[in-house]
Amino acid sequence: MNDKLALPVGTTLDRFIMRKQEDFPFASGELSQLLRDIALAAKIVNREINRAGLLDISGAFGQQNVQGEEQQKLDVIANIRFIRALRNGGEVCTIISEEEEDLIQTGNKKGRYIVAMDPLDGSSNIDVNVSIGTIFSIYRRCSEVGTDGTMEDCLQAGTQQIAAGYVVYGSSTMLVYTTGNGVNGFTYEPSLGEFFLSHPNIKTPQTGNIYSCNEGGSNSFPEGIKNYINYCKENNYSGRYIGSLVADFHRNLLKGGIYIYPPTAKAPNGKLRLLYEANSLAFIVEQAGGKATNGTQRIMEIEPTELHQRCPLIIGSTEMVDKVEGFLRAEV
Ligand code: AHG
Ligand code: MN
Ligand code: MN
Ligand code: MN
Repeated sequence: MNDKLALPVGTTLDRFIMRKQEDFPFASGELSQLLRDIALAAKIVNREINRAGLLDISGAFGQQNVQGEEQQKLDVIANIRFIRALRNGGEVCTIISEEEEDLIQTGNKKGRYIVAMDPLDGSSNIDVNVSIGTIFSIYRRCSEVGTDGTMEDCLQAGTQQIAAGYVVYGSSTMLVYTTGNGVNGFTYEPSLGEFFLSHPNIKTPQTGNIYSCNEGGSNSFPEGIKNYINYCKENNYSGRYIGSLVADFHRNLLKGGIYIYPPTAKAPNGKLRLLYEANSLAFIVEQAGGKATNGTQRIMEIEPTELHQRCPLIIGSTEMVDKVEGFLRAEV
């Protein structure tokens, strides 16, 4: 990380992106522009979320997505807003979205980037005013510029990510992202329409005493996970589960902790999606000194085979993730 470029808290996102451009080996300005396009969409979605209860845009949209989930109106709105911002920005040729079964070709055939996104994470919390988020990963295309992006472009391992981030629409709205040179957090000031650097160079504690897990499914958890959850209880850890991955992840990133979504009877491969939930947050947590695994393999080394494939996710403070892996090995 270019420490000489350590920028003061309060720097705007735009200035930060410009000054840090030296960190991008391909400092052509295209990735900078893409990050700005994402920030623009986040501002627009933030405004829609804040007004949802007033504009009758909360509640169910009335159809299911490819995941078999009841789409919420804000799922659809966020999906449209991010696709539009990325299409208009011109840098992205192809998008993978939780809310779209197939690849979305933007028409920007000269675009050098692929974006995988969860436009709205934590949909079950939209109508009850609990924090929700957006999650994204950015890849460089492998296919020839001047054509539509290909499935091969979109099924790259997480280690190929060139950037990843999330927006958490919470008590304040924050954008947290990495380009492989550390993790930085920006807080949105709506009255100015700007993101300001508020959490420079985030490092996650090596251990913690917070565990996030939906224990409603625990009867069918793998034995090793059951044993780890009992270990947390025997050691008086705090159980914290918001039901929005981004919000649980963000709290654990700052305070230290672990989020676990294991295989269950209802979700034999876990519930979370590899391309636009697990990989994105795995890149961030590793850059912040943490760890992300599916129980046996580093998340970012999983070779994707399908756009919406799911994977078990154990992510957070390194010593806690190592402990879970120890319990899982003991189970074998
Ligand atoms: P999404 O709203 O994008 O479909 O993601 C929901 C995910 C994640 O945000 C959350 O941690 C998890 O689903 C909650 O699942 P359970 O309700 O099964 O606990
Ligand atoms: Mn969903
Ligand atoms: Mn999600
Ligand atoms: Mn979602």
